[in-house]
Amino acid sequence: VGRRPGALSEPTPSHGNAGALLTASFSARVIDWQKQSGRHDLPWQGSRDAYRIWVSEIMLQQTQVATVIPYYQTFMNEFPVVERLALAPLDRIMQLWSGLGYYSRARNLHRCAQQVVQQFGGQFPADRHRLESLPGIGRSTAAAICALAFGVPEAILDGNVKRVMARHFGIAGYPGDAAVQKRLWAIAERELPQQAIEPYTQGLMDLGATVCTRSKPRCSTCPVASSCVATLRDQIALIPASKPRAAVPERYALLLIIARADQVLLLKRPPSGIWGGLWSLPELPLSRPEFERQGCSEASMNEVRRWLEQQGLAIGKQHLLAGFEHRFTHFRLNLLPMRIDPLSLAGVPTRVAELSLTQVAEATVSWLALRDVAAAALPKPVKSLLRALTPEPGARPDS
Ligand code: ADE
Repeated sequence: VGRRPGALSEPTPSHGNAGALLTASFSARVIDWQKQSGRHDLPWQGSRDAYRIWVSEIMLQQTQVATVIPYYQTFMNEFPVVERLALAPLDRIMQLWSGLGYYSRARNLHRCAQQVVQQFGGQFPADRHRLESLPGIGRSTAAAICALAFGVPEAILDGNVKRVMARHFGIAGYPGDAAVQKRLWAIAERELPQQAIEPYTQGLMDLGATVCTRSKPRCSTCPVASSCVATLRDQIALIPASKPRAAVPERYALLLIIARADQVLLLKRPPSGIWGGLWSLPELPLSRPEFERQGCSEASMNEVRRWLEQQGLAIGKQHLLAGFEHRFTHFRLNLLPMRIDPLSLAGVPTRVAELSLTQVAEATVSWLALRDVAAAALPKPVKSLLRALTPEPGARPDS
């Protein structure tokens, strides 16, 4: 005892004795609020027909009420009972679903209707686990059907309700994360009232949709704000945490600096893809171990040799420079530059033309004067690399 309601330690059941002296429990406040201020006129309310409630819950998965209403009404006119839906051609169901999105829901709806008819004689079972065995019905949807159609106390936890619970009970972290989800389910079970499950369930949904919204929640009208951890800690914008960014894929490539005294060999990149249409240094994909040990395999060097031969060149002196990374939005490119002094192959004229910056459209391989690097259409990291080779204006050539 001695704990204030909403004390900022571990989230605790809000219907404990200490809290009850000062504040009604979480569920009692949600229930009262739903009766007074929740939604009561949605087309699937005012009925305990499990079929109607099931259709509405499937349509409402990841879809807003206002979008669902006209689809729901059309559906109910055409398929007033589960048998009609089970017998309908899938094409017709898809046609009526068209525009609502997530079309696997419509295919599952059809299969589910058929199974309810075949396995349960057309009656949805009032049991969460049996409901969950049907296509398209997950744990939260099964619980919503139990609560709203049969008055059976089962805990829901859809996207909106996760937000309400995470904020009120101060559960940080991304709710898609399995460990966070587990804690939220445990809280949802713990807070579940044994009475008035219908207004409680609807109240959580209504709070999530109309008060505890993702951005700009209306905390001043919230019945549980006085014990909301996120509100009390000023963490509304931080809870629930957003999806962590996926690790970016890595690519590795050898970057060939084939440079003579005052020129460097460039390739024009294809119009699409990274650096599309820019001139750049020739690249060769590398394996991660090659990049990490900063050394090329014999196979990679043979490929370089072959490519240079096609240009009428042979490999003279060569050495590797320090590898570096370049970040794109969707991946990281790890580049290992290799400087090669090109030799003209005996008896084979150099086929590579000189690049004139004003006439580059047709050429795909070209020499660029190092003094023109700054003005050329080159990717930034390539330009930086080449600038290091470029003699400073006025600098004396090496002797
Ligand atoms: N979202 C999911 N189920 C809902 C329901 N029964 N009423 C309003 N919004 C919902």
